[in-house]
Amino acid sequence: MSTSNPSSRLDMQGKIYVANWKTHLSVSQSCELIALFKKILTQLHPQDEIVICPTYTALGKIAPMPKTGSLHLGAQDCSAYAPGAHTGQVTAQTLAELGCRYCIVGHSETRQYTTNAEIEDKITQLIACNITPIVCVAQAKAQEIQPLSSALQTNKAPVVIAYEPISAIGTNLVPTAQHVEEIFKKIMGLMSPFEHRKDYRLMYGGSVSRATAKPLKDLTLLDGLLIGRASTQAQEFVDIIMA
Ligand code: PGA
Repeated sequence: MSTSNPSSRLDMQGKIYVANWKTHLSVSQSCELIALFKKILTQLHPQDEIVICPTYTALGKIAPMPKTGSLHLGAQDCSAYAPGAHTGQVTAQTLAELGCRYCIVGHSETRQYTTNAEIEDKITQLIACNITPIVCVAQAKAQEIQPLSSALQTNKAPVVIAYEPISAIGTNLVPTAQHVEEIFKKIMGLMSPFEHRKDYRLMYGGSVSRATAKPLKDLTLLDGLLIGRASTQAQEFVDIIMA
């Protein structure tokens, strides 16, 4: 991996596919789908990482189920606070206890209820618990990246940045691969003070499906995909991974 050619970051690793199940599934449906994924995903490229982000309530049921190779657990959000008197919150510590390796933060469906300071605190809490934050940005503006860059000033850790344009989420309106590449380059410019770390990954999310995945996957800079509704259909999710 070289600092001068960040696109080569991928040469040594597979792609990461994050299934954001949102609230599409019940607890029992989530357990059934995980059991199915465990059977079929073992045949996929071993270097790829599959991350399933169910609801908090399903996480508690899924966590004790037997682990399988490159299938990891993630969460859809977390508290900005350490354990304490915070009614209704779910801490990074308890997510780590359940074996979560990743956690989405700053998703556009949650940003309206959060401040940049809280997003920074969430990232800090996650890093302290060895959970990799997947930080979502809708426009790749400096203001959106700021909580991540602030958190990285004091915490060295791998992170994932997911470009998720609001216009693409749940709409089947996917931007062109060229547009996504331009945004990735913009993010890399904003992250350039941290490029020496060589350990942030770039993802795209928003209406990824078997019909839209291929041109995105052909992007050299793309390290992975964040997939919502299509990830709740086992065969469609496999088709995306195999595209
Ligand atoms: P979608 O959602 O794939 O259903 O558009 C993606 C996301 O919001 O993470």
